[in-house]
Amino acid sequence: MATDRRDTRLFSQLFYRSRGSEPEEYAKWYFNNLIWQDTTWMGVETYKSPCDMWNYQEILTQLQPSLIIEFGTAFGGSALFWANVMRQIGRPFKVLSVDISHSLLRPEARRDPDVEFVKSSSAAPEVAERIKQLRKEYPGKVWAILDSDHSMDHVLAEMKLLRPVLTAGDYLVVEDSLLNGHPVAPEWGPGPYEAIKAYEKEFPNDYTHDTAREYKFGWSFSPYGFLVRN
Ligand SMILES: C[S@@+](CC[C@H](N)C(=O)[O-])C[C@H]1O[C@@H](n2cnc3c(N)ncnc32)[C@H](O)[C@@H]1O
Repeated sequence: MATDRRDTRLFSQLFYRSRGSEPEEYAKWYFNNLIWQDTTWMGVETYKSPCDMWNYQEILTQLQPSLIIEFGTAFGGSALFWANVMRQIGRPFKVLSVDISHSLLRPEARRDPDVEFVKSSSAAPEVAERIKQLRKEYPGKVWAILDSDHSMDHVLAEMKLLRPVLTAGDYLVVEDSLLNGHPVAPEWGPGPYEAIKAYEKEFPNDYTHDTAREYKFGWSFSPYGFLVRN
């Protein structure tokens, strides 16, 4: 596992005095300048932070999952990224990417043979059924990432839908928990961050936070959102 570097920045202590607020300032700069809307993977729009994507491929390489579950497809850039990384890892896998609309989905992503694009609400019971089937076809660990409707109620519904589907050692990332003042968009209202808190209140023993990964690059679109199923 990655080491937690918050207190071990020897190089930084020797050559640079951090004010401590740089990661937060960078998160605000990246988010508020909408750089994430102009970020692409292999030419396809991908609404992510490059630091998170680098982090994710490191986790995937270590986790070696066989099934990727993505809620929120949009243009398909992130689905393509999962498929590209997983092909390099080299074990049999499937990517399931769910979205209520395919109006944005790019042909370059749509034609990827290892991605199953499903048009549905991510909170629909059929989605859980499809995941259960795919788990049988692709036995092994699951990497799941929630990046659809960023309201608290919807994210909480997604987490509850995954509750009977994920098993010990599976990885769940709850994206965009930086909304609602964590540290961006303070006017957003209850979102993914609040959904994680509400879920943990109801099911306190389900997940362990992978804080080393969360803090590795200093900032993330998913603060408090790197979760390993117990
Ligand atoms: C932030 S975008 C996804 C970005 C994509 N994962 C990426 O990294 O490029 C959010 C997507 O969630 C979809 N969405 C909104 N509500 C949804 C719902 N209830 N179920 C599934 N998808 C939903 C939207 O249609 C939109 O395409």
